[in-house]
Amino acid sequence: MNVYTSSYLKSILISKGIESKVEDADYIIVNTCAVREKVKEKIYSYLGKVNKIKNKDAKLIIIGCLSEVEKDEINKKFKPYLLGLFDKESELENIGKLIEGEIKKTKLNQVSRYLPVIFGCDHFCSYCIVPFARGREKSKTLDTVIKEAEEIYNEGAKEIILLGQNVNDYGKDLKISDGFLILLKEISKIPFFRISFLTSHPKNFKLQWIPELKNIPNLLQLFHLPLQSGSNKVLQLMRRGYTKEIYYEIVEKIREEFPDASITTDILVGFPGEDEEDFLETVDLIKKIEFDRAFMFIYSKRPFTKGESFKNEVPHDEKLKRINHLIKIQDEITLKKYGKYIGKEVEVLIENIKDKKGIGKEKGGRVVIVEEVDKDDFGKIIKAKIDRVNIRELFGKKLNYMN
Ligand code: 5AD
Ligand code: SF4
Repeated sequence: MNVYTSSYLKSILISKGIESKVEDADYIIVNTCAVREKVKEKIYSYLGKVNKIKNKDAKLIIIGCLSEVEKDEINKKFKPYLLGLFDKESELENIGKLIEGEIKKTKLNQVSRYLPVIFGCDHFCSYCIVPFARGREKSKTLDTVIKEAEEIYNEGAKEIILLGQNVNDYGKDLKISDGFLILLKEISKIPFFRISFLTSHPKNFKLQWIPELKNIPNLLQLFHLPLQSGSNKVLQLMRRGYTKEIYYEIVEKIREEFPDASITTDILVGFPGEDEEDFLETVDLIKKIEFDRAFMFIYSKRPFTKGESFKNEVPHDEKLKRINHLIKIQDEITLKKYGKYIGKEVEVLIENIKDKKGIGKEKGGRVVIVEEVDKDDFGKIIKAKIDRVNIRELFGKKLNYMN
């Protein structure tokens, strides 16, 4: 979401030019995150630095989640000119008008573009600050999303990624049942090479949607489904609303319908009450599921959340030990799964080219680095033969034919 708001701001602020140095800027916009304590500390230290080096008349604008949940502290410490969440396009345009007078949108020359379709979150997981920062779920109307997606297509994008904290809740607040599926079907009528969505909540990811998704030919077969824990006890403490059995059923159904899909996840380590046995259940489930990739986080206490007052905290050393163990296991799994691609041909949509190397994704969303691409390959789907892998990417050479 923050990557999107920053790029949206860029597209409407370009007319007066964007300075690369804070010292020279008339306005400084800092887009913040509040999800983990460490991120907050980094932002505070950055804001302190900015305030020291900026021109004394320069105006500091602070947006994003932290602006909402730490309003008073930020106001006191950094005295910004403007402070607030600013997650909707119309609100970002107000910042644009304030700076530019009148705004003019500049075309973004990006192959892959984000589009938020639902804002906020209604779930209140006991570790998470997001609902307090971003408020309740609010979907854009279907007409709005279609219009915006068409605009993105007409600007030259080849891939669209539909965004939401819980993208599969799309339409619930508008009382559209199965809104997520209807949305995907509608967007698939626009001839993007690829359509993707991020992030799904396992609680509301309906099993019966999965076979229906097969009718969407341009769907990127990437399913990011944050698991958080493999222990039903911890999942309940986290207020996730599913069990590991329900989660596993979703994974099995996806693999049955989309054998080449990548399934990725987030794991939260060291939530209060997670004992050794719970942790081992997470280890077992990760080994059983074999995610393509997993993003691991150490739990940190967040204000406003239910979890803030939970007893049975896990000592920091233990959290570190657990996360390192999980990362090691997952790295081996990723290498094993990615290794199966060596010698195989994949179709890659080239999103960027740097030093003759093309960067893109294959149809299951795995990142591929392709050697010896041409300038003309930008925005095209090309074939590549994979010859090596690491825990993040597949590497290959371009094949000079397409079927
Ligand atoms: N501490 C650490 N990680 C967190 N996440 C959410 N809240 C916290 C927290 N308090 C992680 C979750 C989520 C990802 C975006 O960030 O794993 O899926
Ligand atoms: Fe946070 Fe849970 Fe909402 Fe995701 S679903 S944003 S983890 S409260």
